[in-house]
Amino acid sequence: MAAAVLFAVSILTIFIAYKLFQRLRYKLPPGPRPLPIVGNLYDLKPVLVRCFTEWAQIYGPIFSVYLGSHLNVVVNSPELAKEVLKDNDQQLANRNRTRMINMFSKNGMDLVWSDYGPHYVKVRKLCTLELFSAKRIEALRPIREDEVTAMVENVFNDCVKPENKGKALVMRDYLGMMAFLHITRLSFGKRFMDSNGVVDSEGEELKAILDGAIQIGSRKSFAEFLPWLPFLFKAENEALAKHDSRADNFTKKIMEEHTLARKRTGNTKNHFIDAMLSLQKDYDISDDTIIGLLWDMISAGMDTTIITVEWALAEMVRNPHVQQKVQEELDRVVGKDRVMTEADIPKLPYLQCVTKECFRVHPPTPLLLPHKAVTDVKVGGYDIPKDSTVSVNVWALARDPSVWKNPLEFRPERFQEEDIDMKGTDYRLLPFGSGRRICPGAQLAINLVTSMLGHMVHHFTMTPPDGVRVEDIDMMEQAGLTTYMRTPVRIVPTPRLSADLFKRVAVGSV
Ligand code: HEM
Repeated sequence: MAAAVLFAVSILTIFIAYKLFQRLRYKLPPGPRPLPIVGNLYDLKPVLVRCFTEWAQIYGPIFSVYLGSHLNVVVNSPELAKEVLKDNDQQLANRNRTRMINMFSKNGMDLVWSDYGPHYVKVRKLCTLELFSAKRIEALRPIREDEVTAMVENVFNDCVKPENKGKALVMRDYLGMMAFLHITRLSFGKRFMDSNGVVDSEGEELKAILDGAIQIGSRKSFAEFLPWLPFLFKAENEALAKHDSRADNFTKKIMEEHTLARKRTGNTKNHFIDAMLSLQKDYDISDDTIIGLLWDMISAGMDTTIITVEWALAEMVRNPHVQQKVQEELDRVVGKDRVMTEADIPKLPYLQCVTKECFRVHPPTPLLLPHKAVTDVKVGGYDIPKDSTVSVNVWALARDPSVWKNPLEFRPERFQEEDIDMKGTDYRLLPFGSGRRICPGAQLAINLVTSMLGHMVHHFTMTPPDGVRVEDIDMMEQAGLTTYMRTPVRIVPTPRLSADLFKRVAVGSV
């Protein structure tokens, strides 16, 4: 007992001495007072981005927050975002990996969690030149159009059922299935659904792996921030290892199937798994990196799509005049005798503004991913010591009243009045980040989100459930790092095109 007390006191003393040393050595940004060991964890509010935006009002546009003993610096203004993502881009391009992320990413052998260095540069080049080139995005368009039209068909089939007449549907169910089928098909080159529209057994295994990851992730304990208490992690480590090998086995089996199919037919398909396997030697990447990249695509590209389109549909219901204006544009450009395709998007400028306005008000990853300092850096006149984390609060930038007129108003017209880029060159609007670590899937995501939203608005008039006023729709975010709606939005979709236009436009293997 005495030894344990002595141990705890020594740890506390070392911690306080270290913090004092840091305070004296560095001019750190101000922030809420941290407690020993737990830092500011005790004070965080569940919706992290709202908590940070409130703290920016108190401590200023750059502040420090301690997650356990780890220093995080949060920047909340376009000028500081530029300092982080442009002026100090390379110095702040590492990633902060928790124990759990280290395990999933095999110590950063993937892209998302890789530190900046030769491995990162190589893999990023593969993504930019091969996986997300304009040519490949276009070649993968049939998969997106197949899955978007399948979603529309599902919504239609459900809303015309006599027992569902006038009933509200939970949109997240349809968006979730669409995003799952799209991203897994894009990555693994397979549609995990049988001819009856039921997820097949392999798809069930894939879903179980994804659910397992979510469960492990949501079990995040304070222990994550207290690495000197390893005895807290034993059970957790075992669960992580089990999960990791299950995901590996699943992926390796599909890799083998594709390798055999390529040998048999001599054909390389456009999906990511075939593209990576056929380029593996040229880019000198390991199987672990391919596995890591495939799961990166799923973790980075699935929820982000669901979150954005769910908010977009909620905004359509809350702002019927916007919905009507999009419908008028679609009817004028596409007409009512065919369905829209991605090829129509350049001729639909108002729809594009609506998509942008959704990304402005509801960025799905509002703090980007954590950037870690490669070396000591200065931002906003403050020191950021090596290895501390920097988060850019893009949610706050896009709602900053000093750079946006009436920022809380959902008004797509603002983008007709001023052409503002959302792919990393305008620091007021950064849903995909900027600089070296900008989202490589940005263009693909914009195409997909615009197409999903356009199809839904063209095919249906969307209204709130009976008895619910539009102002009563819950527009708060769920707790956590991403911004899912706290309450899944329920919408009554009324078809506005003829029934034969609600059929899935199926394509085979792409
Ligand atoms: C609504 C859609 C999406 C949004 C808003 C979004 C946003 C982001 C953001 C903010 C980052 C981190 C940037 C940073 O660290 O500063 C990121 C990284 C990334 N995203 Fe996306 N993303 C979306 C869709 C996608 C899709 C569809 C894919 C792939 C199919 C994808 C793949 C990635 C990858 C691989 C990274 C890691 C890049 C790196 O670390 O170098 N994202 N994304």
